[in-house]
Amino acid sequence: TVLVVDFGAQYAQLIARRVREARVYSEIVPSSMPVDEMLAKNPKAIILSGGPSSVYEEGAPQLDRALFEAGIPVFGMCYGFQLMATILGGTVDNTGAREYGRTPLHVSKVGSTLFEGTPENQSVWMSHGDACSAAPEGFTVTASTNVVPVAAFENDEKKLYGVQYHPEVMHSTHGQQILEHFLYRGAGLAPTWTTGNIVEEQVAAIRAQVGDKRAICGLSGGVDSAVAAALVQKAIGSQLTCVYVDHGLMRKGETEQVEKDFVAATGVQLKVVDAQERFLNALAGVSDPETKRKIIGREFIRVFEQAQLEILQEDGPAVAFLVQGTLYPDVVESGGGTGTANIKSHHNVGGLPDDIEFELVEPLRQLFKDEVRMVGQELGLPDEIVQRQPFPGPGLGIRIVGEVTKERLDLLREADAIARHELTAAGLDREIWQCPVVLLADVRSVGVQGDGRTYGHPIVLRPVSSEDAMTADWTRMPYEVLARISTRITNEVPEVNRVVLDCTSKPPGTIEWE
Ligand code: XMP
Repeated sequence: TVLVVDFGAQYAQLIARRVREARVYSEIVPSSMPVDEMLAKNPKAIILSGGPSSVYEEGAPQLDRALFEAGIPVFGMCYGFQLMATILGGTVDNTGAREYGRTPLHVSKVGSTLFEGTPENQSVWMSHGDACSAAPEGFTVTASTNVVPVAAFENDEKKLYGVQYHPEVMHSTHGQQILEHFLYRGAGLAPTWTTGNIVEEQVAAIRAQVGDKRAICGLSGGVDSAVAAALVQKAIGSQLTCVYVDHGLMRKGETEQVEKDFVAATGVQLKVVDAQERFLNALAGVSDPETKRKIIGREFIRVFEQAQLEILQEDGPAVAFLVQGTLYPDVVESGGGTGTANIKSHHNVGGLPDDIEFELVEPLRQLFKDEVRMVGQELGLPDEIVQRQPFPGPGLGIRIVGEVTKERLDLLREADAIARHELTAAGLDREIWQCPVVLLADVRSVGVQGDGRTYGHPIVLRPVSSEDAMTADWTRMPYEVLARISTRITNEVPEVNRVVLDCTSKPPGTIEWE
């Protein structure tokens, strides 16, 4: 394991991903963790992340010197670099000499462990106020900038390295190479962490956890639950039952994907609950977005729990486990606890009767989203599932502005299928994070089709580009593709006589309309 010590801000997760891209397993720990606890994890190398503080600020995160004396290779970046410099006796000045953004770096010692084989002049991403003016004793200065005399240093004997900049961001042109030099050359690690290994490791862990008991997994049609279920299926086979609640709010072909393709790829035992009527009845007459969400969430939990009870009542070993597709970013953001928690409420799965407690099986707890997709591929899941873009739990229910009815759902499904087909055909699935297709069911406008006047509904296209859905921008997609989608929808979906483009970023607009 490589430990990434998190000094705040958003850098630690990115660093952890970069380490894994180098095929070395990494884990994030908070900088508040005592050093002996970090060392107890037996790390093969430690990376100190950047952070928003200045080493001179009151209350700035500190680190015990013992970390540098444990004989473990350490790589400090940005704040981690400055902390390392200060603790080991170098000089960091609050000079007011700031550098932000792309900065030219001059490598003064090309043969260094970190910079070997990289050019003398390279572009790096800086973000700091303080600057290191003297390296600690025993360290060689390996790079500088026009502003900072000591922009990188290393003590190869003690395996301690540092850079003032952010090698983990794309704008640092040789960042990944330098990180790999630390891992492979500095720390002597080998690139052995592969998707094949992850699958093997998880299968063994799941078998050990579940034993001969049974487990239940809710499938949503999304990537995470599908990959989690496929892993557990591989581990325990028929001891797993998957439940898929068909609430009738899915897009065209998605339920079939789960019922046929997923089952064919995994051989999983699947219980499909057809609850379309029930959801439609519960949603009748409701047009307030929050009320819709609440109703859908509530009904989902009820139907899912009913299915669980039926499975509990079947003959066979005790059902003691619930599989969930929790990902590593959720784990880090909720405090990074290890071990298995008991059931907690989740917006897509929901609570359970008071007297039943499942233990959670969370085989994706260590993984980032892109790694989950790779594992899914490794397990032979179809691309339509593994590469699927985000889709909200309440489904099309929150993409009909107005009351949800069967007719409106069918109409939206057709329009959405056309848009998705054309976007995929145009090769835009990667550039576009997701493209909600929204029916303005309570709006009508006048149109002319054939020889007659129409009074139909508008469809909104909401293509967005994003990294994490927290912020987003509307995708500047080619006019020809927009034209094709518009023509096809107005031709093929009779109730629609107008297609409009949502060109609002987030903020101020959310990605979904409700
Ligand atoms: P907004 O509309 O808040 O959406 O900008 C951000 C991201 O979250 C998805 N989304 C949901 N996902 N249950 C989910 O599982 C929900 O209730 C829900 N609401 C929004 C949305 O599709 C986008 O990716």
